[in-house]
Amino acid sequence: MKDLRTQYGQYAVVTGASSGIGEQFARRLAAAGVNVVLVARREERLEALAAELSRLHGTANIPLALDLLAPGAVDDLWQRVAGLDVGIVVANAGFYFAGPLTANPLADELDVLTLHTAVPLRMAHRFGRAFAARGRGAIVLVSSSIAASAVPYEANYAAAKSYVLSLGQALHHELKGDGVDVLVVSPGQTQTEGLDSAPGIDFSRLSGAKMPPARVADAALAGLGRRAHVVPGAMNVLTDVLTKYVLPRRLSARMYAAILRPALTAEPRNAPSAG
Ligand SMILES: NC(=O)c1ccc[n+]([C@@H]2O[C@H](COP(=O)([O-])OP(=O)(O)OC[C@H]3O[C@@H](n4cnc5c(N)ncnc54)[C@H](OP(=O)(O)O)[C@@H]3O)[C@@H](O)[C@H]2O)c1
Repeated sequence: MKDLRTQYGQYAVVTGASSGIGEQFARRLAAAGVNVVLVARREERLEALAAELSRLHGTANIPLALDLLAPGAVDDLWQRVAGLDVGIVVANAGFYFAGPLTANPLADELDVLTLHTAVPLRMAHRFGRAFAARGRGAIVLVSSSIAASAVPYEANYAAAKSYVLSLGQALHHELKGDGVDVLVVSPGQTQTEGLDSAPGIDFSRLSGAKMPPARVADAALAGLGRRAHVVPGAMNVLTDVLTKYVLPRRLSARMYAAILRPALTAEPRNAPSAG
């Protein structure tokens, strides 16, 4: 792997680092000698991971318990890392949310929208501006392999992930000349707590292998500086190509409706909370 610390800076900020894909980003970055600022709500998990990574790799990691849905959270994060040589930002925090839109509480759908769009936008703006001013840095945004289609029963979540893909691919070109590498990673089904406890849907009813989250982090970090968009896994690449270039949007939406409808669950759909 390239020398991330020399290329970008001594610290990385990873949101959603307490589990799943974000935790694996933190593990990979620390193994590469980068100190990691670990952001999520579950403080004990962040503290345990920070200590473990320090023990394993000698990095100076900082657990930062923060609810990114709280007003001013990204400004707060920005202030808490001021003075550190932050060179990499991974905007990964999120939660999966499915079910018929009108059956879900609007407040939860608005949280999905904020966490998956406004939060990465604020992070890209804050850190992107600083990275451009100093002429180096990297921003990784986490989208999804469903981002190229409209997806019934994940209508708002999928629309938010489309936004992330579009934002990141555009910023890749905007910031390239300033020495800032922007990459979007679009995982398919990945074996995480978020997937296991996803409200509104039972993923065990869907076919297809679930990828280990470490593979997502590895693919993204390998593509950083080389590509604007990475889709880990051959089947997910196939889905991406199919929904982007082969199927008209109305057919891909129909396809997703047929796949997801049988996996919907009847229990009340409330967004997951910390703990
Ligand atoms: N798993 C998949 O199949 C899959 C596929 C495509 C895309 N993705 C995307 O990958 C990203 C990571 O998901 P995952 O599957 O790894 O799920 P996960 O294991 O549930 O991890 C989600 C992370 O986000 C954090 N988070 C959630 N709400 C937060 C908030 N309000 N403030 C701060 N942190 C918050 C969680 O930490 P706390 O609970 O401690 O706050 C946790 O660390 C998400 O953006 C998801 O949409 C996942």
